[in-house]
Amino acid sequence: MSCCCLLVVGVLVGVAYVFHNVVVKGKQCTSRAKLHGKTVIVTGNNTGIGKSTAIDLAQRGARVILACRSKQRGQAALEEVKRESGSNQVVFMQCDLGSLKSVRSFAETFLKTEPRLDILINNAGIYMEGRTEDGLGMMFGVNHIGPFLLTNLLLERLKECGPSRVVNVCSSAHNVGHIDFDCLNKHKALGLGTSFREMCQIYSDSKLCNALFTHELAKRLQGTKVTCYSLHPGAIKTELTRNTKPVVQMIMKPMMFFLFKNPVQGAQSTLHCALQEGLEPLSGRYFSNCTVRQVYAKAKDDATSKKLWEISERLCGLA
Ligand SMILES: NC(=O)c1ccc[n+]([C@@H]2O[C@H](COP(=O)([O-])OP(=O)(O)OC[C@H]3O[C@@H](n4cnc5c(N)ncnc54)[C@H](OP(=O)(O)O)[C@@H]3O)[C@@H](O)[C@H]2O)c1
Repeated sequence: MSCCCLLVVGVLVGVAYVFHNVVVKGKQCTSRAKLHGKTVIVTGNNTGIGKSTAIDLAQRGARVILACRSKQRGQAALEEVKRESGSNQVVFMQCDLGSLKSVRSFAETFLKTEPRLDILINNAGIYMEGRTEDGLGMMFGVNHIGPFLLTNLLLERLKECGPSRVVNVCSSAHNVGHIDFDCLNKHKALGLGTSFREMCQIYSDSKLCNALFTHELAKRLQGTKVTCYSLHPGAIKTELTRNTKPVVQMIMKPMMFFLFKNPVQGAQSTLHCALQEGLEPLSGRYFSNCTVRQVYAKAKDDATSKKLWEISERLCGLA
């Protein structure tokens, strides 16, 4: 009997070990690229996936620009990234992606003070209701319009420094997203509801914007030395659900503990897209678990991505 129990426990431990180390942990970025002399911007890096990404890139010798919205959290992140990476080539510059003025001011300061840009990582993201200071739906504004404007303002510098890359942190949630152009035109938002289901839908819609933006950007960058990629980081233990109702957080906590990757594991697909040699022919594609993936037709639809680009240009004052 005791032998049987031991066997069952042994099998359970073995299954848990394999599940955690193979299924949950996922693949690692295998690139050994060093980045001395290169400059990288990572948005939203005071916590979560962005912080782990910034530490790794600084360890590889890059000059890392921490683009965070909060001065206080940004300064704390600056100290931590410097300490963890052992690099002093780390700089904090304030950038609130929910404010077109702040994005423009960040880009102006960056272009004035930094001669290079080799990799732009649009990592920051939010799950939250409300409006940005420009009257855009919060998730549409922060998850899509802010990074759209930032990328466009920095594109010339990326072209000058090519080969260079833009990496957009998307999500598998984009699979259930859709773009309601009537709602965008009328309300400058992807949707109007505030229920849990509606919020999940709007978040997914904003992540579909990330995939479509990457698809259209790759087409517009053809003939340059700039390439771009979008990715799903996996399900990661971070602060992304911090604005959900307490009951949702209570349900998420145990799930996160057993099933979610930690932020270092969550940064691997971002690092793969930023660093892996030979990805250039895959510009515009979507990755997950450090592997290029097929997407549904809606995430690479030429007409939708062009229409989204044009409305985004209007909404952020580029057109
Ligand atoms: N965690 C997951 O399971 C998961 C899955 C799929 C995709 N993703 C994507 O991964 C990315 C990183 O998220 P995470 O999981 O690391 O979440 P997180 O821990 O909440 O980190 C998000 C980062 O974005 C920043 N941010 C939020 N609003 C901003 C704004 N207006 N301007 C500038 N920065 C802003 C946050 O800064 P503050 O601290 O100041 O708010 C924070 O640094 C997001 O794009 C998210 O959609 C995450």
